[in-house]
Amino acid sequence: MKSFSIKIRLLRVSSLLLGLSLGNISAWADETLTSITSPNQLLNVAVQAAGDGRLSYTVTRRGKTLIAPSRLGFLLTNAPQLDAGFKLEKQSLSEHDDTWEQPWGERHFVRNHYKELRLDVVQKPPFDRHLTIVFRVFDDGIGFRYEFPDQAQLHEVKISDELTEFVVAPAATAWWQQGGEVWALEYPIQKTALSEVGMANTPMTIRTADGTHIAFHEAALIDYPSMWLRKVTGQKLRAHLTPSATGPAVERQAPFNTPWRTLQIADNAAGLYMSDLILNLNEPNKLGDVSWVHPAKYIGVWWEMHLEKSTWGAGPKHGANTANVKRYIDFAAKQGFQGVLVEGWNQGWDGNWVGAEANFSFTKPYPDFDLPGLSAYAKEKGVNLIGHHETGGHIANYEAQMDAGYQLYASLGINSIKSGYVTDGGTAIFPSANGQHHFGYTDSQEGTRHYLKAVQEAARYHIAIDTHEPIKDTGLRRTYPNWLSREGARGMEYNAWGNPINSVEHEANLVFTRMLSGPMDYTPGILSLEGVKGRPINSTVAKQLASFVVIYSPVMMAADLIENYEKFPGAFQFIKDVPTDWADTRVLHGAVGEYATIARKDLHSNDWYVGAITDGKARTLDLALDFLDPDKTYVAEIYRDGKQADYRNAHRHDIIIEKKIVTAKQHLSLQLAPGGGQAIRLKQSGG
Ligand code: NOJ
Repeated sequence: MKSFSIKIRLLRVSSLLLGLSLGNISAWADETLTSITSPNQLLNVAVQAAGDGRLSYTVTRRGKTLIAPSRLGFLLTNAPQLDAGFKLEKQSLSEHDDTWEQPWGERHFVRNHYKELRLDVVQKPPFDRHLTIVFRVFDDGIGFRYEFPDQAQLHEVKISDELTEFVVAPAATAWWQQGGEVWALEYPIQKTALSEVGMANTPMTIRTADGTHIAFHEAALIDYPSMWLRKVTGQKLRAHLTPSATGPAVERQAPFNTPWRTLQIADNAAGLYMSDLILNLNEPNKLGDVSWVHPAKYIGVWWEMHLEKSTWGAGPKHGANTANVKRYIDFAAKQGFQGVLVEGWNQGWDGNWVGAEANFSFTKPYPDFDLPGLSAYAKEKGVNLIGHHETGGHIANYEAQMDAGYQLYASLGINSIKSGYVTDGGTAIFPSANGQHHFGYTDSQEGTRHYLKAVQEAARYHIAIDTHEPIKDTGLRRTYPNWLSREGARGMEYNAWGNPINSVEHEANLVFTRMLSGPMDYTPGILSLEGVKGRPINSTVAKQLASFVVIYSPVMMAADLIENYEKFPGAFQFIKDVPTDWADTRVLHGAVGEYATIARKDLHSNDWYVGAITDGKARTLDLALDFLDPDKTYVAEIYRDGKQADYRNAHRHDIIIEKKIVTAKQHLSLQLAPGGGQAIRLKQSGG
């Protein structure tokens, strides 16, 4: 203990020499080891040690404590717990500031500016086990991770759970979704007091009384289970690692790092969405030249099955028949869509295709689907077929055929695949070492391995992946830019099926929760505004259009039936015009679950696009056009809710389409109907 306190005193001196502040430590703290501030000095992280050498961290912003002392450490299954008796061996501080280019994304260039504190700690004898804890403090939040150095005392690391805590100091409201439950990532997002959270998935967003917003999540989830947040007591949350079906939650050999535990922190909801912290905590592109990855808009043989007009499986209503697919290819070519998704093309859809009975072939088409002929036909027309690999959650069956499936598509020039893992939480089927199978969570350590393996293998064939029922997004698109998009929340399909359909505030919830993690293949654009048997969905037409801007994905499906696009040509024009790859993004208005306005600049032209959405309330929002080039004029092509538009009544289709000449000095008044929205294309017209 003696050498420990001398070490602390020495560190305090060296901290002062390094220019580190000791921070504003609250009454709960034991012994402050060190602290670090963000580049703009607003955010501070302090690390404390209790008398028994237990480590904790505290986060303050503008002098107010946001995260009270929160424990760090692990429970192991093959060794005593790794949470106490620590002393600090060494600390080092560095600063990093660079700007990197995205191959595709919400903005072309991303600034990565943080201060980093590395703490090398060691446990007292007899354990003598080493651990490194790294904090990166940005202006818009923090990330920290544990690094396990290789050491004889802890080479095989078997973790039953993390002890990492997030003790939120000010009373807060939370927007969250259950973790570890049967529908995996597809629960409605609920709003409760933070103290009422049970077990949450991340990103989970909270708002404190003074309006500060914090989103809890993780970055760079590789070969490690996904983290759920379990409420312990009051506002204390603890990391809970997705269990493994066969042993400890984590089995790794040192050296390795955990994912980053992240807190994005901003003055308001808009600030949260503007944060690039998750991407910045991921490694740069490992694939080199990715010019073969193409952002695109697509249509497909999809909504008709969800509407029960046709079937995935064989029979008289089989959707993926050659004539029907040709119809989609022709429409895509005529209207300028780059892709046509075809689901139900391969054998395995007849009977129960979910779970243990799933027996998909990834190489055998149904006889009424001419795969080579249709891919050639599409190519002639300048359209790409988009492949589909539904696994039914039978990962073992998929892994056995994955390579052959990719090879087949690559040989036909099909360069993107939508994959799917429909199954209940905890019932995905993994291969066991003995050739048998076992059940487990898709977000377990073996699940994270599988999803990344699928993306890495696809990259070898220059194929991009859009995962449905995915592992949650943690920014790995930076490292593997062929991981183009994913689902990972309730998509449009719930509006087809019901039980229940998506709530009217769903999209405004998604923007400030799920979308903080990355792109979502939400499949908007249902201009009919109808699900199965004509059941109305909670939206106006203008809101459907606005979703193309607000819910970001580099691959964006215009999901409605061809006949509905033919029926509503005015609104359809916006869907044809809107791009999916952006030079810049600005969130202009936002309140979680209430409304959002996002402006994005096209990567390939000087045009801007604006999308605004609201929940069930009508709203008027003032849109300052000061993001436009001040020396130019623009034609604003406006798609706005008509006077009578209201998602609750027969006027939900009421839309006004008009043009105005505008400049950067002007403001537009966005009048959003209940459940409504507005979409605007701002076309640069001259100086
Ligand atoms: C669920 C996916 O989200 C949906 O898009 C797909 O059509 C079905 N699974 C079938 O694969």
